[in-house]
Amino acid sequence: EKAGYKHFMAKEIAEQPVVLADALKHYTSARGTLELPEALSFKGIDRVTLVACGTASYACHVAKYWFEQIAGLPAEVDVASEFRYRDPVLSPASMAVFVSQSGETADTLAALRHVKEKVARVVSVVNVPTSSIARESDLALPILAGVEVGVASTKAFTCQLTVLALMALKAAQDRGTIDAATLARRLEDLRALPGLMNAALGLSDPIARIAKDLAKAQDILFLGRGPMFPLALEGALKLKEISYIHAEGYASGELKHGPIALIDAAVPVIVLAPKDALFDKTVSNMQEVMARNGKVLLLSDAEGVETAAQGTWKTLTLPPVAPLWAPILYAIPAQLLAYHTAIAKGTDVDQPRNLAKSVTVE
Ligand code: M6R
Repeated sequence: EKAGYKHFMAKEIAEQPVVLADALKHYTSARGTLELPEALSFKGIDRVTLVACGTASYACHVAKYWFEQIAGLPAEVDVASEFRYRDPVLSPASMAVFVSQSGETADTLAALRHVKEKVARVVSVVNVPTSSIARESDLALPILAGVEVGVASTKAFTCQLTVLALMALKAAQDRGTIDAATLARRLEDLRALPGLMNAALGLSDPIARIAKDLAKAQDILFLGRGPMFPLALEGALKLKEISYIHAEGYASGELKHGPIALIDAAVPVIVLAPKDALFDKTVSNMQEVMARNGKVLLLSDAEGVETAAQGTWKTLTLPPVAPLWAPILYAIPAQLLAYHTAIAKGTDVDQPRNLAKSVTVE
């Protein structure tokens, strides 16, 4: 069942280039057009409200940047356990999007029921098309990741991101905020991802070596900016789930508003920073860490590593990627860091303590 891998998580990490390519093939044409269901129309929609739990909620956080930047559409994100007990002020012209791998998460399902009659459309992004969340939404978009067994979500996360990216492009198309050439280029950039992910998987050995040191840490920080900020949150969640090391994700710019007090030589800081428009800002945050003897692991592309490696503890070089879609690619080294750190610590990777694959209780 594990197809020669030691753990389901390793298998599921490795499957990502294939399942991502499948999802892209399903929702786009070879001519480079979007092939999303007509019912997904964003015409007349004035806002998207994205709701989920855990890793799926971080996918929603990334998507917020995309809906705003690509489609100029207001987007808000909340975790289901808060959303369902708030009195969210919803526009009747809004689309509510529920993201769930299992489609059975109790809080997400309750949140869906909470808004069903109050919004224009309820869309779910699920891995299990027969699930309760899929059945109770107006439209369900399967992420086509295939069965995910490992409790730590990996391939479902990148497939959720892919479907959400396509939704943001559809929103832009329906709202007339994207021209045909830009849309074609963005789709081409998405189609490049499976190949880039294969290259990222090649970092498994160097990551395993770095993980031997990370495994000795008690606390680890992840930093990112823009759409890489939610990926920092996801990297931290993945690590704490399976290695039991305390980890936190922060927006790079928030460092000096508190967490910098934690920095000393014992706290590794993992910086997720492709060479994008905000790279220099992140590098200056990184330098603040290094000035306090912080141990920085920089993940960037060759250009970024060349510019900013000085003074870092270690670097990992990823292939260059369209900045918008970078969180999808950088998810792979984030997952591998968690995986190999857990292996180095000898914890149960596929069945971490206290966790269930599907949280069907409140
Ligand atoms: O099945 P769901 O996507 O609704 O599950 C949501 C969370 O419980 C899930 O993502 C959880 O955070 C994972 N264990 C993360 O790896």
